[in-house]
Amino acid sequence: MRDDRIEAKWIDTFRRIFDLSEVRRGEEVAILSETQSRQSNVQMAEIALLQMGAKVFHVVMPSAPSAAPVVVRSTGASTAMQMNQAAITGLAACDMVVDMTVEGLLHAPELPPILRPRKARVLMISNEHPEILERLVPTPELRDRVLHGMARLKAARVLRVTSAAGTDITVNVEGARLGAAKGCVTKGGQVDHVPAGLIAAFPGAGAVNGTIVLDRGDINLTFKRIQESQVRLVIEHDYVRNIEGTGLDAEMLRDYYAAWSDRDAYATSHIGWGCNHAARWEAMAMYDRAQLNGVEQRVFAGNVLYSTGASEFVKRFTLCHFDLPLRNCTLTLDGETVVEQGRLVGDFA
Ligand SMILES: [Fe+2]
Repeated sequence: MRDDRIEAKWIDTFRRIFDLSEVRRGEEVAILSETQSRQSNVQMAEIALLQMGAKVFHVVMPSAPSAAPVVVRSTGASTAMQMNQAAITGLAACDMVVDMTVEGLLHAPELPPILRPRKARVLMISNEHPEILERLVPTPELRDRVLHGMARLKAARVLRVTSAAGTDITVNVEGARLGAAKGCVTKGGQVDHVPAGLIAAFPGAGAVNGTIVLDRGDINLTFKRIQESQVRLVIEHDYVRNIEGTGLDAEMLRDYYAAWSDRDAYATSHIGWGCNHAARWEAMAMYDRAQLNGVEQRVFAGNVLYSTGASEFVKRFTLCHFDLPLRNCTLTLDGETVVEQGRLVGDFA
C-alpha cells in the first residue's frame, strides 16, 4: 500500500490523535521533522492541525551524518537537531511540538531543554506507514490502562519474567525511572508517543540478573526481523555476558554488538510490557521494512519488552539499542501476575 498519497481518512487519523492531546484553536504548534522524515505524514499532520485551528509552523532539520561504525536503528534518540540552540529555544516556546523526526526525540539530549520551561508538550509520532497509525489511534481506555500499569509498577519492588522457553530474569525495580506511552500529552512539560500502550522501567545499576531466551517468533526491532531461531542471553548485573545460540539470529546479534566495541552496548536499558489490544506482532510481516518503525511490535498486548542500550538514568550512553519484544512470557510484580504466558490478566487487561 502506498504511503506517499494524502488520504482524507488519514487526516482524520491525525485529528483523532491530536484530539486526545487536547489541541485547541489558537495554540502555537511546531511540527519538527527532518529531511528524511516521511513527508506524507508531515503534510497530513499539518493539514489536521490547521483544520483544528492551531497556529502551525515547521522546523525542518537536515538529517545528520552518521557518526556510528554500523547502521543505526531503533534508538529513539534522533540526531537531527544537533543541539541547534535556535531550534531548541523556538520549540521550547511553543504550546506543543509534534515530533516527526525519523528516530524521535525521546532519548535525545535536546528534549530536556525543550521541556524544561514546562510550556511545550511534545508528542512524538512514530515514523510508521499511515495505515499503522490509522489502526492504532490512541484511546482514553488505552491511556487509562497505561496509567494503571504505571501506578502498579511504581509501587513494585521486584519484576520477574519467566517463560517455557527458558527466560528467567529478576529485576529490582525499586526506585527505577519509569517510562510510559499513553498516547497523549495535555500539559506543558509532558512527552509521549503514538502508537501507544507501553509501560517500562529503567532499572538502577546492578538491578538486572538472569536469562532471557529470545524464542522463535520473538522480535528483534533493530533488525526488524521476526526471529526464526532461539538466542539465549545471560545477564549479570545488567550486562549481557553471553549470547548463546547456533542460528542466524544469534550470529547477527553477536556481530552487531561486537561492531560497536562498546561495553555499554550490552547493558540493560529498559524492561516492561505492552498493553495495546489493537497492535499485532505478526503485522510486521505485512510491511516492507522502510514502511515501519516497529512501535506496534513494542506495544502489542501481553508482550514483555526487554531492551539493551543507553540508560541516561544510570549514565550509560550508547547508540547501540535493541528493543526485543518477547511473546508467551509470564511477568509478575512482587508475585502478582500482570502477564500470563503472553496474555494480560485481571485489571491489567
Ligand atoms: Fe528501547
